[in-house]
Amino acid sequence: MTATDLQTDLTGRSYDDTLRTLSEASVEQHFDAFRDIAWDDPAYAVDPADPRWVLPAGDVLGRHPWYRSLPLERQVEIGLYRQANVTKVGLQFEQILISGLMNYAFGLRNGSPEFRYSTHEATEECHHTQMFQEFVNRSGQDVAGGTWAFRAVAPFLPLFAKWVPFGFFYGVLAGEEPIDHVQKAVLRAGDDTHPLLRRIMQIHVAEEARHIGFAHTYLEHRAPRLRRVERFVLSLVVPLIMRWLCDQILRPGRKARRDMGIPRSVVRDVWWRAPESRKFLRDLFADVRMLAERTGMMNPASRLLWRAMGIDGRSSRFRSQPASAAS
Ligand SMILES: [Fe+2]
Ligand SMILES: [Fe+2]
Repeated sequence: MTATDLQTDLTGRSYDDTLRTLSEASVEQHFDAFRDIAWDDPAYAVDPADPRWVLPAGDVLGRHPWYRSLPLERQVEIGLYRQANVTKVGLQFEQILISGLMNYAFGLRNGSPEFRYSTHEATEECHHTQMFQEFVNRSGQDVAGGTWAFRAVAPFLPLFAKWVPFGFFYGVLAGEEPIDHVQKAVLRAGDDTHPLLRRIMQIHVAEEARHIGFAHTYLEHRAPRLRRVERFVLSLVVPLIMRWLCDQILRPGRKARRDMGIPRSVVRDVWWRAPESRKFLRDLFADVRMLAERTGMMNPASRLLWRAMGIDGRSSRFRSQPASAAS
């Protein structure tokens, strides 16, 4: 089920029906990290010298003139490392998400419609972490994933799912939306992506459509129940979470920058000084801005923060609207 199908499917249904539809879709279509990927197929072998590891032009680093001017073998080396590191951060983020979903489900009352779906989501994320870790292992790259700060706070983030589920599910989107956006762009561009990575991305994009659908549905359902003060405080926190988590996921930490040998000036340019990078950053959040409007998270004060975080811009009119039309 694509994100657009899902969205059409979700309109006009009650909250409980929507969650049931999502749960049933998880039963009908789901993937197993070791059954649905032919890891040992020779076509999927990871050869560190394979030119298909060169970063595509759709990648913020891949299109930078510094990267483009490197000899092919350096481009390949950096490309494989970067893919492995982004994958590692993605799986660390999913580990936080799984723990958070458990904390969230733990407190749900009997008969709660969220219990079944959040558990389906956790099951799927477990498979994602297995498939991502397997890719990292096969890449042969000893990547650390997120920055030191991200890894240090990771054990505490799932607690927010218990304390402030509304904020937590916005946090879920802060991770899932950028990853999904980047993976869809790679799949759509039809670049000469390595078939193993392509398979992993296809599986991931297919299941993330449901997860993102759930987070949107949950937040829209919960928003009217927030108290006025809560809504205002959350409206200020949301843009900060978005930007912070997005940076943790997309920007390589110190070790990764050193391992890849990216000069400081290039780092500054790519994350996020260059105009194309800034546009890319804004485009990542068009769907979340739409959701923020719908959930009462946009007011004059919060809009200033969205702008200060560099993630302001036009909102999508519907989920997964192509970026060029949205901002
Ligand atoms: Fe995932
Ligand atoms: Fe997910």
